Amino acid sequence: MNNPGKLLIDADAPRDVPRNSQLRALINAVLDSVVAEGQVPPGEVFDEAQRIVRWHYQWMGVHEFLPHIVGEGRVKDLMRCHREDRCYRWRHEPFIPAEFAVAAYRFGHSQVRTGYAVNADFVAPKIFDASIPNTLPDPNDLRGGKRAPRRFVDWSLFFELGGRVLQISQRIDTTLSAPLFELPFNAPGLPSANPASLAQRNLLRGLVFGLPSGQDMARAMRIKPLKSDDLGDVSHLKLHRSTTPWFYMLREAEKCEQGKRLGPVGGRIVAEGVPRGPRRGQAVVPAGGPGLEALPGQEGWRVHHHRPAEVRRRGVA
Ligand code: HEM
Repeated sequence: MNNPGKLLIDADAPRDVPRNSQLRALINAVLDSVVAEGQVPPGEVFDEAQRIVRWHYQWMGVHEFLPHIVGEGRVKDLMRCHREDRCYRWRHEPFIPAEFAVAAYRFGHSQVRTGYAVNADFVAPKIFDASIPNTLPDPNDLRGGKRAPRRFVDWSLFFELGGRVLQISQRIDTTLSAPLFELPFNAPGLPSANPASLAQRNLLRGLVFGLPSGQDMARAMRIKPLKSDDLGDVSHLKLHRSTTPWFYMLREAEKCEQGKRLGPVGGRIVAEGVPRGPRRGQAVVPAGGPGLEALPGQEGWRVHHHRPAEVRRRGVA
């Protein structure tokens, strides 16, 4: 929730695939277990369940997700580094930097596979199939907003829960699965004239927000930028010296980390965007696991975007 009453994850939204309704089920299960334990007065049950879910989520973010995505060494360096040495220095209230939302964190688009086995009975050959009309109640793809018993996810096909074949993510690189070039829907609240290609949308969004190039971001972070040769395939567009940041960070992952994780610029922006403690050098979530004070959620952690003018002012430089 951003503001009270405004749900940000909507399982019925067209781009949200079936997993989100199962996340709601998880939150309800935590709520039920808090009630069953009977340790908390009835009026505080929701707050307690919210705290448990939030802490676990943050713990997984710092100790499991980030080491995978940006590398253990970089996470440790960042956890140690002082506020003055970070690119992202919020003062009064945390916010999501535009470089994070519009470029770095969109790395996930390159990891999406063409299709998925959702469970033993339902294999969707394409994650989205633009040839299937949206009026069908249970289409043979994974668009959201369509509830049907066969659409519930068997998580053991996605995570190591016991012996079956995993559908691991694609590498982080400058290729995208074909269905993402033909999105059969528009994201809620965005203009209907949006292009069907997700890549095109990402590139346009970078332009509209006036983001600096990947090379400029690297220099501002005192990181050696990619060489022109690393971007030779876009030199005919004159993008090899000044590269749109979403593309730059994908190429960086490809060149510097063989697509196994983000490179130095993208990794830094993603790692800095993950919530940490409000005081210098203090990690949001203690290494021992959930359970200590001073998580931002407890002090009304809120997330919002800045207008483009503010974005430029607050850029990484
Ligand atoms: C099938 C999978 C996915 C689809 C269809 C999808 C689709 C989209 C669409 C349509 C947008 C809005 C684009 C625009 O017009 O600017 C978007 C934004 C975004 N996506 Fe994805 N996405 C997927 C997976 C992911 C993953 C795995 C990640 C990250 C790990 C991710 C990160 C983001 C971010 C950070 C934004 C910008 C959000 C904002 O500015 O508020 N997406 N995505």
